[in-house]
Amino acid sequence: MSHNIRQRKQDHVDLVASRDVTFRERTTGFEHVELVYNAMPDIDMAQVDTTTPLFGRRLSLPLYASGMTGGYADAERINAMLAEVCCEVGIGMGLGSMRAAVDDPSLAATFRSVMHHRPPLVIGNVGAVQVARWHKQSTLSDNLGRLLDVVELDVLAIHLNPLQELLQPEGEAEFSGVAAAIAAAVEQCPLPIVVKEVGAGIGEHVAQRLIACGVNGVDVAGAGGTSWAGVEILRHPRPETVDHLWDVGIPTARCLYECRPHCDAAAIPMLASGGIVSGPVVAKAIAMGAAACGVARPLLQAVLAGGVEAGVAMMAEWELHLRQWMFLTGSASVAALQRAPFTYSHTR
Ligand SMILES: Cc1cc2nc3c(=O)[nH]c(=O)nc-3n(C[C@H](O)[C@H](O)[C@H](O)COP(=O)(O)O)c2cc1C
Repeated sequence: MSHNIRQRKQDHVDLVASRDVTFRERTTGFEHVELVYNAMPDIDMAQVDTTTPLFGRRLSLPLYASGMTGGYADAERINAMLAEVCCEVGIGMGLGSMRAAVDDPSLAATFRSVMHHRPPLVIGNVGAVQVARWHKQSTLSDNLGRLLDVVELDVLAIHLNPLQELLQPEGEAEFSGVAAAIAAAVEQCPLPIVVKEVGAGIGEHVAQRLIACGVNGVDVAGAGGTSWAGVEILRHPRPETVDHLWDVGIPTARCLYECRPHCDAAAIPMLASGGIVSGPVVAKAIAMGAAACGVARPLLQAVLAGGVEAGVAMMAEWELHLRQWMFLTGSASVAALQRAPFTYSHTR
């Protein structure tokens, strides 16, 4: 892999850790969502059970670290720390794009470090542009095989990121044939395939097309948390030409509201990520139908600043707050919380 790509991955982590790359005006929309307080919960606080099944694995909490890194030297250490947090807390762990290790097997160690503490669910990652290219070149099955050799995965996430590709100076805004390629990946990959965005959101029309491709899960990865446009604008040689795109995306709460009926009808899990920043937000996202929630930048910032201990402490606080909301909505289980009433005063 070229020095440039490794540098880009390092830049991403450095920028996310050191600069304010949240959306400017746009929010997740969770501030418009309220769980309905239940004065007669008919359960004990001690009965609240946060464990949940996801893709055949059992998580202690309905959470996972969203795919972030791999493919450059320091990623080995960062992935090992994130995996230790996920393992200790009992949540899933996503890897960053693994294309680097498919092209250059010497980089596999930067992903394999998650196996020092194997989290209960490990989610691989590759870009939809890459999958489309492999499909066009008739090398999809070989490359998926190489990808699965990098590290033992439970699920493969394919990311859709047209906004990010458009803004990257070295980006590849080449999405033609992407639906056919995702459908082919679903056929050829022995693992469940989840399709995610990277923080600009999957709305109902895209969710419907993904379901038609046969995907096994949709991670809405909506707007309001980390702005990937923002990250790329900070790296752009002429930022004034692209600055108007900083806030593009569909708020996470709206994505969930739109996608839920389609995911429910297809009986596939809907995953919530993009601006998941606390236990109460996790509770709202689950009530909106999410099977589990993904967290990227807040967890990365915690482990970079305070190591594994800080990551575990943050997750412990989220767990406590989630439990409190489960009790206050009368939800003894994650499945019950998915049916808990909420209000959503949104404008479209
Ligand atoms: C440093 C960093 C690197 C990322 N790299 C990837 C990646 O390689 N593949 C991917 O699908 N998403 C990647 N993401 C996007 C996240 O998975 C997530 O969708 C996005 O950051 C929104 O979540 P957040 O608001 O919790 O940060 C990355 C995020 C961060 C913070």
